[in-house]
Amino acid sequence: MSAITVRVPAKVNLQLAVGPLRDDGYHDLVNVFHAVSLFDEVTAAEPLDPAPERDPSAAPLRVRVEGDLTGEVPVSDDNLAVRAARALADRAGRSYRADLLIRKSIPVAGGMAGGSADAAAALVACNELWGLGLPVEDLMEIAADIGSDVPFALLGDTAVGTGRGERLAPLETAGVFHWVFALADGGLSTPRVYGECDRLREEAGVAAPTPAVSEALLAALREGDATALGQALSNDLQPAALALRPSLADTLAAGREHGALGAIVSGSGPTCAFLTESAERAHELAALLKDVDGCRSVVTAHGPVPGATVAG
Ligand code: C5P
Repeated sequence: MSAITVRVPAKVNLQLAVGPLRDDGYHDLVNVFHAVSLFDEVTAAEPLDPAPERDPSAAPLRVRVEGDLTGEVPVSDDNLAVRAARALADRAGRSYRADLLIRKSIPVAGGMAGGSADAAAALVACNELWGLGLPVEDLMEIAADIGSDVPFALLGDTAVGTGRGERLAPLETAGVFHWVFALADGGLSTPRVYGECDRLREEAGVAAPTPAVSEALLAALREGDATALGQALSNDLQPAALALRPSLADTLAAGREHGALGAIVSGSGPTCAFLTESAERAHELAALLKDVDGCRSVVTAHGPVPGATVAG
């Protein structure tokens, strides 16, 4: 096979409970991930140019990025998909080559784990391209070293992450949930939002709570009850994201006024997520939110959907 394409979903956090800052710079979390039908595609192809024995200057792993507003995605060795492919080659103990092409639809630095999704897709694509046949358990281990959200992008559907978010247990859900996502201009840096969360807690003299999963949320998922799920959504990073980007409060308020069952900042933001009762309501809400100040664009999606999957 000379090229493999993998499709990988974005995530929204249904609950993000942030505990104390650990010595390693991460926070203990309870992180309920939910994969939604907004996809990036990553193609891993055999390079067409001569092998490095004949051209020592050729990099073994190269990456190109296509799509809307991809300027902030690094095309260097720092790209998460390149890091993932390199980690996979290291695990296999050989120097493999690949040209990676990332087609982005997931907002960049938007709080929807787009970079992590691309890393997960690169693992699946290169595992296939290089004929390694590593089982998903091995890919999950490599994924956790690349980033806290990467294992979930392999798994998809709905799952609770503990530790720094990388230790996953799948959750039972019923039915389909319908979402609207309001994308903002520019991104928010995840470390900066976590830092602001710590700062706000310190300023208020509030100790970080021990994170615990919401029983109301689990029940709503099990029963496929969108109204109850809307009420149970929570994100401890939201006050920090709003402090850094005050206009997000207006976006969330507009969604609530127009009847969203729940309105929340997705992960570290700035994307805002709105839950609705049906696909039709999602399209209506999307049309109403398009004109809100600070919204770059609005998309609809449904969840849960599977994780990184070979598409061809
Ligand atoms: O794991 P990942 O590299 O995606 O995390 C990005 C940043 O988000 C970390 O450097 C850290 O600042 C913050 N983070 C955190 N606690 C977590 C996950 C991420 O503080 N559990």
